[in-house]
Amino acid sequence: MRHIELLLTLLALMFTSTSETCISRQSITAVEGEFFYLRYCSSASEHDSEKNAIKWYKSSGSHGRIELNSSSSPRITLHDYVLEFWPVELEDSGSYFFQMGNDTRKWKLNVIGRSKGSCFVEKLLTSKTVEVQKSLHVACKHDYFQPLANRTSLYKNCKKINNGTNPVLQKNAEFKDQGYYTCVFSIPHNGKLFNVTKTINVTIVGDRSKIIPVLLGPKLNRVKVELGKDVNLNCSALANEKDQIYWNLWDENGKEPNVHEENVKKNRALDGKLYVSRMLKIENINAKNLKFSYNCTVASEGGTDTINFVLLKKEDMADIPGYIFTRGMIVAVLISVVVVCLVIMGVIYRVDLALFYRHFMRKDETLTDGKTYDAFVSYLKECGPENGEEHTFAVEILPRVLEKHFGYKLCIYERDVVPGGAIVDEIHSLIEKSRRLIIVLSKSYMSNEVRYELESGLHEALVERKIKIILIEFTPVSDFTFFPQSLKLLKSHRVLKWNADKPLSYNSRFWKNLLYLMPAKVVKSRGTESEVFPVLSQS
Ligand SMILES: *[C@@H]1O[C@H](CO)[C@@H](O)[C@H](O)[C@H]1NC(C)=O
Ligand SMILES: *[C@@H]1O[C@H](CO)[C@@H](O)[C@H](O)[C@H]1NC(C)=O
Ligand SMILES: *[C@@H]1O[C@H](CO)[C@@H](O)[C@H](O)[C@H]1NC(C)=O
Ligand SMILES: *[C@@H]1O[C@H](CO)[C@@H](O)[C@H](O)[C@H]1NC(C)=O
Ligand SMILES: *[C@@H]1O[C@H](CO)[C@@H](O)[C@H](O)[C@H]1NC(C)=O
Ligand SMILES: *[C@@H]1O[C@H](CO)[C@@H](O)[C@H](O)[C@H]1NC(C)=O
Ligand SMILES: *[C@@H]1O[C@H](CO)[C@@H](O)[C@H](O)[C@H]1NC(C)=O
Ligand SMILES: *[C@@H]1O[C@H](CO)[C@@H](O)[C@H](O)[C@H]1NC(C)=O
Repeated sequence: MRHIELLLTLLALMFTSTSETCISRQSITAVEGEFFYLRYCSSASEHDSEKNAIKWYKSSGSHGRIELNSSSSPRITLHDYVLEFWPVELEDSGSYFFQMGNDTRKWKLNVIGRSKGSCFVEKLLTSKTVEVQKSLHVACKHDYFQPLANRTSLYKNCKKINNGTNPVLQKNAEFKDQGYYTCVFSIPHNGKLFNVTKTINVTIVGDRSKIIPVLLGPKLNRVKVELGKDVNLNCSALANEKDQIYWNLWDENGKEPNVHEENVKKNRALDGKLYVSRMLKIENINAKNLKFSYNCTVASEGGTDTINFVLLKKEDMADIPGYIFTRGMIVAVLISVVVVCLVIMGVIYRVDLALFYRHFMRKDETLTDGKTYDAFVSYLKECGPENGEEHTFAVEILPRVLEKHFGYKLCIYERDVVPGGAIVDEIHSLIEKSRRLIIVLSKSYMSNEVRYELESGLHEALVERKIKIILIEFTPVSDFTFFPQSLKLLKSHRVLKWNADKPLSYNSRFWKNLLYLMPAKVVKSRGTESEVFPVLSQS
């Protein structure tokens, strides 16, 4: 279908469509000063002998039929079936007859004057309508003129756009291509050049396929207004040429006097789409206007589309004003920062918080488990010169802080166990009676005697899960490879580092961590000792 259409368009745009150069129309118009010809439409069956019998006649006005011959006028030439005018003039108007035997053909010629200031005559136009985006083809093709002409030029609106022997314009039609296309064939005759002009009026139209019109923009428009001010509502649609666009302004109370509907504006885009728009002007906005919904409709055979406009007083806007939004953002960011800080603080002061919670809730894990001691302290018992510090720590500092200050009950073998009896059994039962096993670690810790305590405690802790182990590392301790592997499985927070060189207050992190690892117990802080106490009193 497309192809046929295209082909038809092409054919119609050519100035003559076929090789037939004879003139079969009865009534012909010619332009004065141009080359012109009449040609009889012969049929192939005619014989040369009959050409001798050809006669041309002219009749005009009161004059009767006059036979034409080569000497009738210097401007006229006769070749068998053809009568040529070099050029045709106004006085050549009239009826012309061709006679061959008893076959006669008649034409009525009307010669009209040239238009001044124009390269073509408006009365002598062919018209063509081309859809935008479709093929536009303008060719100066004429089977009679072209072989005679030694120059052919194509003009658009009388401006030369192309010349040569066969000027052609071939492109996809755009709206700017609309205009008058004139072909001028310049034909030499007897040393003079004679022109023939042919003009088409090319009109570019939009896509003829109908569209369903659509209004542009959202379906519901909230327009901020101030009372007493004016507002223009723009209703704009993509539509067809004949579609209606209008505002619905009437309700049961009639139309408000301060509301005016403007004229429709149409605007065709280069791609052929037609945009129609219609403004609604509301002057001196009053409270009544705010209650009304202004609806704009575009209607076509294909369907309708409507959009609503509602006027809102500026302060009623649901939108968050910018400054509130900014403030909100700042507050949100601050809250996030605070939350993050709190989480970080919580992680850092986890121990303090847990201790505070225990204190606050008066939590006590020791009441019901039937155990005697809060912790069994395992340490190196020999008191040699190189491990005196550990001994002091285990026997003096630990009990002083944990027992005297915080009210725990420790089991220190050297102090609490009466000599005699089976040491191994006794240690085992003491560990069983304790809630924690505190191991004071040092390089020289792994003596035979404490090894049993360690392994017994580890067994309880790791296998039977009856006791929790607290490791206190004595600085500098570097190498623990001689310990059982299972000791390394202890969670790192169960390992505390004791720095013997620094005196520590009861509030120090070391003691807090130790308290945290110790069972929760309700005790009264005795507070009798000074806050900072000498750790290594003997040194
Ligand atoms: C040509 O036609 C004119 C009149 O139109 C006539 O006077 C003349 O004799 C004709 N000449 C010839 C050769 O037929
Ligand atoms: C046409 O002319 C021929 C001779 O050329 C003649 O025989 C014939 O009768 C004519 N016909 C008419 C209709 O005049
Ligand atoms: C050329 O075509 C256009 C559009 O169809 C028309 O408006 C205009 O009158 C035509 N021009 C002439 C001279 O007929
Ligand atoms: C056209 O042809 C004529 C005659 O042959 C010649 O005098 C003239 O120069 C030619 N013009 C052009 C533009 O070729
Ligand atoms: C065609 O037009 C150009 C200018 O547009 C001109 O220079 C050239 O001589 C023309 N050619 C002919 C054959 O008229
Ligand atoms: C023929 O057309 C040319 C332009 O193509 C123009 O310059 C010339 O004057 C015209 N001649 C006549 C006799 O109209
Ligand atoms: C209305 O809106 C359309 C499309 O957005 C635009 O082309 C047109 O120029 C606008 N009209 C006015 C008066 O602003
Ligand atoms: C406009 O449309 C809304 C909803 O689509 C409707 O409630 C209102 O009555 C309409 N207004 C007019 C004036 O038609």
